[in-house]
Amino acid sequence: IESQLSDGPLKGVKAIVTSGPTREAIDPVRFIANRSSGKQGHAIASALAALGAEVTLVSGPVSIPDPTGLAVVKVESAVQMLNAVRSRLPAHVVVCAAAVADWTVANRATEKRKKKVGDPPPTIELTPNPDILMTVSKAEGPLRPTLVVGFAAETEKLMEHAADKLARKGCDWIVANDVSEGTGTFGGDANTVHVLDSDGVESWPAMGKEEVARKLAERIAKALGKA
Ligand code: CTP
Ligand code: CA
Repeated sequence: IESQLSDGPLKGVKAIVTSGPTREAIDPVRFIANRSSGKQGHAIASALAALGAEVTLVSGPVSIPDPTGLAVVKVESAVQMLNAVRSRLPAHVVVCAAAVADWTVANRATEKRKKKVGDPPPTIELTPNPDILMTVSKAEGPLRPTLVVGFAAETEKLMEHAADKLARKGCDWIVANDVSEGTGTFGGDANTVHVLDSDGVESWPAMGKEEVARKLAERIAKALGKA
């Protein structure tokens, strides 16, 4: 199997994929997180590895198993995720599929917050997290990957927000998906995505997350001139 994998079209290509949610601690026992299952990001990491890429999957806490045939780095917070990605650059391709928390807790308590009768509820103060996708996209020189792919999970105005993200973040592609209630995207197995790049939009029919991953890996191979 080893030799088969390393003989794929992405042989010699270094890839980093972020996946899953991040956790931002409120105190030692509580955190802020989100509904990302990690299914899509993990499937992309596996699909790239199946084409022979040397893949590092940087994942927040998920309940699905680690994919085999690639390196898995487990992190909790967005800052940890950024550091894990940064320390593994340079790479030819970076895919940011993680649902990174936009804010972290500014007033994190070092001991468990206790409630006292009559006290007002505590206030959680938030402060912005670093943007991993933007940091990687705007890296300079050899640290800038050949191809940087981001996701746009939206509940409304999908294309408008996705196009805005493509422009603002400086990545090469945005994979846009509708995560509004009823689509079953978050936690589910299916996904309907649109791939935006400087040439326009490519809309794919609804398909399983594994198939989205395979098609994306093939598109990546083509873009890198490897297929
Ligand atoms: N992303 C990231 N680091 C962050 C926030 C987002 O790497 N701190 C990446 C995600 O992995 C995804 C893309 O940026 O590939 C878009 O994430 P999204 O949450 O949709 O966009 P935001 O810019 O955070 O905007 P908003 O949440 O307001 O829609
Ligand atoms: Ca966000």
